[in-house]
Amino acid sequence: MIRATPDQINPDERTELREQVIAWRRWLHQHPELSFQEHETANFVEARLREMPSLAVTRPTATSVLAVLRGEAGPGRTVLLRADMDALPIQEENTFEFASRNPGVMHACGHDGHTAMLLGAAQVLSGDPGRLCGEVRFIFQHAEELFPGGAQQVVDAGVMDGVDVVVGTHLMSPIPTGMIVLREGPLLAASDRFDITLQGKGGHGASPHETVDPVVIAAQVILAFQTVISRQRDPLEPGVLTVAQIHGGTAGNVIPDTVTLGGTVRTFDPQLREQMPQRMEKLVRGITEGYGATYTLNYQRGYRALHNDPGTTAILREVVRETLGSRVTLHEGKPNMGGEDFSAYLTKAPGTFILIGAGNVEQGITAPHHHPRFTVDERALDHGVELYVAAARRLAQPLA
Ligand code: NI
Repeated sequence: MIRATPDQINPDERTELREQVIAWRRWLHQHPELSFQEHETANFVEARLREMPSLAVTRPTATSVLAVLRGEAGPGRTVLLRADMDALPIQEENTFEFASRNPGVMHACGHDGHTAMLLGAAQVLSGDPGRLCGEVRFIFQHAEELFPGGAQQVVDAGVMDGVDVVVGTHLMSPIPTGMIVLREGPLLAASDRFDITLQGKGGHGASPHETVDPVVIAAQVILAFQTVISRQRDPLEPGVLTVAQIHGGTAGNVIPDTVTLGGTVRTFDPQLREQMPQRMEKLVRGITEGYGATYTLNYQRGYRALHNDPGTTAILREVVRETLGSRVTLHEGKPNMGGEDFSAYLTKAPGTFILIGAGNVEQGITAPHHHPRFTVDERALDHGVELYVAAARRLAQPLA
């Protein structure tokens, strides 16, 4: 006879729950909304949470939803579980019947799955508060994909006040289903962005000597930027400087007045992050001055680097072994230069961000994140639900 350990969901409950979570995910997938515009999504989530017992449901911001559950097994800690809910400006190319019904908008990062998993966890935990100490808060966060991000707004609204520990997850198509990445320390980079306007003096393409050509200046700036990473940064310290946009000119025989550049800077080390804009500006200033042009540099700090708390991560590793057992394999993974606004929660309390494998080569689930054919292996949703449930029950226990 198989006996459920205290942290496990019992097997009968599991099948019904699995179908429910998949149905929620598919509804969300069909109805994607862009960052800061998740009105229908938030209404859907709020309605589901209001059907569950024992939850106090509020809206910290216009399109985020918070549910609070008090445990009945005695005092303990306050745990925040987080899912993000926003979609991307991408035209979906998947042809399954639950493909996006909103033209040009698509859940291409798995946030539909995150939302469904956290709803599943809320259902399990609210159905049995006698097995829970302390307090669990479920935050369904808006706008992870678009700076300044929903996480900071939710933190500013007080959602983290009194929280002892925080857990977030991300489904990952490059990681096979059944693999879970729990990493202590640095996981995701700080992501900043910049826009530069190079102001020259336009004119006839046949008379460059009468112009200040911003196209040539842009070329110099882009090449000079390569040396910020290759010659000015400690090679053992991760860093990326990408110029991803260049716009200028209207015709082959017209030198334009201006060229604009845009890009992103990714770092882990706070000092390197601090130094990047000055280093870039020095080069832009020198180059434009040398050519008789001027510039504006707009540098925006984005999400902070994400560092997982070693203690929380170690506890969760144990929890995953006990609850998911042989159904999953655990990996430590490597840091990645991607960014996540989950780091905003980690400025208020320790916590950990877990990557859940959701790829499946045999089923053709291989498209990368933010791709028009992105999807997830729905078996991974089970792992997410169980992980959230087990993490909440364990982390809410009072510290020994
Ligand atoms: Ni994402």
